[in-house]
Amino acid sequence: MITEGRGDSPLVERMQPFVTTIFAEMSALAVRTGAINLGQGFPDTDGPGSLLEDAVAAIRSGVNQYPPGPGMPELRQAVADHQRRFYGLSVDPDTEVLVTAGATEAIAATILALTGPGDEVVTFEPYYDSYAASIALSGATRRTVVLRTPDFAVDETALTAAFGERTRLVLLNSPHNPTGKVFTRDELELVATLARQHDALVVSDEVYEHQTFDGCLHIPMATLPGMAGRTVTISSAGKTFSVTGWKIGWLHAPGDVTAAVRAVKQFLTYVNGAPFQPAVARALGLGDDFYAGLAADLQRKRDLLSSGLSASGFDVFTPSGTYFVVADAAPLGYDDGMDLCLRLPDLVGVAAVPVAVFHDDEDAARSLVRFAFCKREAVLVEAAERLARLRPR
Ligand SMILES: Cc1ncc(COP(=O)(O)O)c(C=O)c1O
Repeated sequence: MITEGRGDSPLVERMQPFVTTIFAEMSALAVRTGAINLGQGFPDTDGPGSLLEDAVAAIRSGVNQYPPGPGMPELRQAVADHQRRFYGLSVDPDTEVLVTAGATEAIAATILALTGPGDEVVTFEPYYDSYAASIALSGATRRTVVLRTPDFAVDETALTAAFGERTRLVLLNSPHNPTGKVFTRDELELVATLARQHDALVVSDEVYEHQTFDGCLHIPMATLPGMAGRTVTISSAGKTFSVTGWKIGWLHAPGDVTAAVRAVKQFLTYVNGAPFQPAVARALGLGDDFYAGLAADLQRKRDLLSSGLSASGFDVFTPSGTYFVVADAAPLGYDDGMDLCLRLPDLVGVAAVPVAVFHDDEDAARSLVRFAFCKREAVLVEAAERLARLRPR
């Protein structure tokens, strides 16, 4: 082992800023203090029983070896059927779909396949933390546009200014983690127009596509006129079917783009999750009642936690989608969300994450905190009761 002359960490410099994720830190704190963990976004109940049974049956019947590189044909077909059923999109399951190890791999493989040093990727902040890390891995540069409270609306001037000669990709996430914002058609049109002007592709992370509230509709970027030809659409079974640990995701894009991403994916994971793929394929075909029930259940949970947060003195920004709610702790006298999140488990026995960690411009979200509400109602009721004990300072 060579150690002489080595610095403190063997990690390459471009990944140094990404050593620990806030989720690991806050989850460890929650475990240590016995706090209710509303920090990390994973449900505390399993997905549909039929889905679980199908995976068990697949394992028992020997679906345990490498599946085909692009993903199993039945899952690719199910993704194409799903896109037609919900959005009227026409997707070729043989050439335009790729199954990935969760949305995370779809994002990373896409960025690695399509960008390199000198290229720029436009994205919004706060952003899902893997975006910045994947862009850093590829050697590209991120250009971010801040979504600001109270409505996290897109600032047209700032977005226009973020585009330039080197823009290769726009990385979009709607419904948006952590704000819960669902991008409006006008905002999506603006992104599409700029992408066309700069001949950029849009990478559209739609993992919360079925988790929208109050009749608010998710609009896939690929449904905008002319955009199917320049969009990589990404989603994941983890979110829709509450099986985050299975890591089955997918993307669809024009054939040449899909082939490019597949070339990278084959050397990241090669293939993934054989017995889960046929199970997810069947689940994608579940009836409308499943999909409506998922959103209705989460909407109730959103309301439960939001009213608890409001009653405790937080300023709540009611989300239209996802399973996160952002709240401002400033009215309680806490101006630093990081400081509050480090103390919250000890103060009242609840863990959350500061929104500033998803920002380059941390001041844009200094006192904001994100809470996950994808938990059993009893857990949320208990969390709300505990939060009510938080005293203003
Ligand atoms: C916006 C967003 N994209 C992607 C992911 C990752 O999805 P997966 O677990 O399928 O990799 C998450 C998970 O929290 C997310 O919030």
